[in-house]
Amino acid sequence: MAQTFESVMGYPAADEKMVREAMEEAVRIVRADLPVFTEKFPSSNSFDGFYEATENVEWTTGFWTGAIWLAYEYTKDEAFKEAALVQVDSFLDRIQNKIDVNHHDMGFLFSLSCVAAYKLTGSEKGKEAALMAADHLAERYRENGKFLQAWGNVGEASEYRLIIDCLLNLPILYWASEVTGEKRYAQMAENHIRTAMRCVLREDDSTYHTYFIDMETGEPAYGVTHQGNRNNSAWARGQAWGIYGIALSYHYLKDESYIDLFCRVTDFFIRHLPEDLVPYWDFDFDTGSTEPRDSSAAAVAVCGILEMVKYLDEERGKKYREVADRLMAALITHCGNRDLKQSNGILLHGTYARDSKENTCTNRGVDECNTWGDYFYMEALTRMLSDWKMYW
Ligand code: GLY
Repeated sequence: MAQTFESVMGYPAADEKMVREAMEEAVRIVRADLPVFTEKFPSSNSFDGFYEATENVEWTTGFWTGAIWLAYEYTKDEAFKEAALVQVDSFLDRIQNKIDVNHHDMGFLFSLSCVAAYKLTGSEKGKEAALMAADHLAERYRENGKFLQAWGNVGEASEYRLIIDCLLNLPILYWASEVTGEKRYAQMAENHIRTAMRCVLREDDSTYHTYFIDMETGEPAYGVTHQGNRNNSAWARGQAWGIYGIALSYHYLKDESYIDLFCRVTDFFIRHLPEDLVPYWDFDFDTGSTEPRDSSAAAVAVCGILEMVKYLDEERGKKYREVADRLMAALITHCGNRDLKQSNGILLHGTYARDSKENTCTNRGVDECNTWGDYFYMEALTRMLSDWKMYW
């Protein structure tokens, strides 16, 4: 079923009462999880509904710390602040000792934990850790092709590629430039998004997940998927990373050409939503499919739309805001966890990775909670309830 702006208007919108109740519920879950997940972190995804306790590893632990910060901002309860600051110590240790950081996800990890700590409390440890993370990310910048290499050892031929997710790692570079006065971080970020959008955006406004760059010439070579259904399909979360990533770079750079990019990527996402407005994990699938959903993709997309509507003209801003209100109502209704006995997560029905003939994934976190789904859902609720100053 193809959606349009007009068809989406036929769905109920989230009103303040609905959003506030959802936020109260989310905060209740964060509070209940705190005893287990202060010294330890939740696993990237839940297993049969429940996160397990892990060390500070993988690309996903910052989302949990970010959720704690959002709970702190909402309640002003010092218990949340204390727990988040314990985790900032862990992030400082992680970057000082280079634990599981041979990849580009420094923004996901350190913006929501350490930049947040610095912005909310003036934490010097948070600032130090985040600046070290920005330096570490900057080492992945490849002048030949002007992009940040996503995975593997830098400069390795088999790994010479960018991925759309990286747009969310750029804000830590913009922030580092603001804090240090050194323009080079922001310049790398700006170069990266320019290269990335030249590569990943297709004519029909869908996006590639990953794109290889020719190591000899520095020119875009070819796109392949990692987590999508096909090399040429639109992985729902990838499309959502595009929406929010473009909005975040617009926030820092105010490059007017990003408005058109934002509309193209977002309109594709909206057009391909199924009947209940909760996207399947890849836009190859539509209403009636038995494939799993990825609620986290919708949560990310809503955050991107809510950021971008601040900069759009009144008419367009209103149109996208109305869509966001309806996507949020669908998420709250179909995916908001209200029962700690069924799950210790906040947003149900996410998919981390799903195997397919053309991707290289094995099933992981299928129809489960994941930490980024929880975080972006809370961020979207926060944005709807307040004039939120972002951690990004
Ligand atoms: N950034 C990895 C993912 O979205 O699964």
